[in-house]
Amino acid sequence: MNKIVFATNNANKLREAAEILAPLGIEVISQREAGADCEPEENGVTFAENAIIKAKAVYDIVNIPVFADDSGLCVDALEGRPGVYSARYAPKGQECAKLIEEMKNIPDNKRTASFQCVIAYIDEKSSFTVSGSCCGSIGYEEKGTNGFGYDPVFVVGDKTMAEMTAEEKNELSHRGAALRALCEKLKG
Ligand code: IMP
Repeated sequence: MNKIVFATNNANKLREAAEILAPLGIEVISQREAGADCEPEENGVTFAENAIIKAKAVYDIVNIPVFADDSGLCVDALEGRPGVYSARYAPKGQECAKLIEEMKNIPDNKRTASFQCVIAYIDEKSSFTVSGSCCGSIGYEEKGTNGFGYDPVFVVGDKTMAEMTAEEKNELSHRGAALRALCEKLKG
């Protein structure tokens, strides 16, 4: 089985990627398992730039195929914020409360948002990026206990992402879409 390093140590992301890439006969391993204990500074201004920074940093250490993802929440009424700065918008665990407060005067029809994800891939012969997105809207209160980050305020259909099972979320998430796009590219 061919190995690909996912430049992350996040167990949820690893499981999701492993499930999507297994049918191609590809084993996904974490950067720690590959011996790359680096944490490069994500100082790009786009998701693609940050994904490339992470993938390159790990590829330079492991020298086998690597991919990295970068993602975030883009809120239309906030002109795309927090976007690439989603992880730094508020202290961990307070991002939903801050967003609800910032959106308190925004009417129903202007609460649209999307999760965006870019994956950068590098091997000895090629490098490319693929992306995925998931459209929804920002709720007025936090609902659900699954997931992480902005999931409790991101509504798709009649549920927040935090009210979905992992399988339901993977089917429609930005990261799931980007991983499936990666899968198609690797199939050739
Ligand atoms: P990263 O790409 O994993 O570094 O994610 C950046 C930030 O975007 C995270 O810290 C979260 O706040 C947010 N984010 C990315 N993907 C998701 C998601 O699937 N659900 C909720 N928040 C997310």
